[in-house]
Amino acid sequence: MKLSRDEMLLEMGLGPLWKLRRPPLSPEAVPADVRPGAASASVEEGGPTAAPAAIEQAPCAPAPLVEANEAESWDALRREVAGCRACGLCEQRQQAVLGVGDVHADWLFIGEGPGAEEDRRGEPFVGPAGKLLDAMLAAIDLKRGEDVYIANAVKCRPPNNRTPTAAEIATCRPYLERQVALLQPRLVFVLGKPAVQATLGLDAPLGSLRGRTHFWEVAGRRIPVVISYHPAYLLRTPLDKARAWEDLCRARALMREAKGA
Ligand code: URA
Repeated sequence: MKLSRDEMLLEMGLGPLWKLRRPPLSPEAVPADVRPGAASASVEEGGPTAAPAAIEQAPCAPAPLVEANEAESWDALRREVAGCRACGLCEQRQQAVLGVGDVHADWLFIGEGPGAEEDRRGEPFVGPAGKLLDAMLAAIDLKRGEDVYIANAVKCRPPNNRTPTAAEIATCRPYLERQVALLQPRLVFVLGKPAVQATLGLDAPLGSLRGRTHFWEVAGRRIPVVISYHPAYLLRTPLDKARAWEDLCRARALMREAKGA
């Protein structure tokens, strides 16, 4: 009888085995300034300085180790974002705002950047736009923190709540990509133009991008993206809430499909 390599190792008592859930980001895909242990030669070797890769256990592997590795990657990301000085937005922030929610969420919502209240409290979407976002989530039976993670295109508040520049968005993008690589969401719901730039790199009018499914490639995964309006825009333009509702319904249908429900 021919045994597989895994079966053979188990037979020999050499489990537990660890497997990558998906290939790690290639070192080139991770800008040098956010690589853990940047400038270290072992980046190329895919050693401890390689970009964070979510790991999955083989059936016999102990769960706590997986969680520890994942938790370490989140901690490293949190520390780097908190101390980031890669663009001018760090000058006036009270704190960087990484994101909030369930780190195993199927849903990832991405907004623009922290406002005054978010900058003060360290959590995305806690002001008036956040209240509307919570209502939008509730409309499709979702709840902040439960199968939902919320992040922003930029992690630091742009002064006077101005729109982040393309350069600021590009500088912050590797953090967002690392979040996505760790979260592995089934679907990304993009709120407004800066988030479209941060995810898909597109600079077209929002209206021309809505109504179809886009795909974002991160860490070797192709994630469906639904584009919609930013809640702050919807507060100013309530007539477009009907369109946002269509987008939410489309996203819900895609998610059901993805889950085979
Ligand atoms: N608007 C955003 O895009 N993000 C926030 O966190 C708050 C308001």
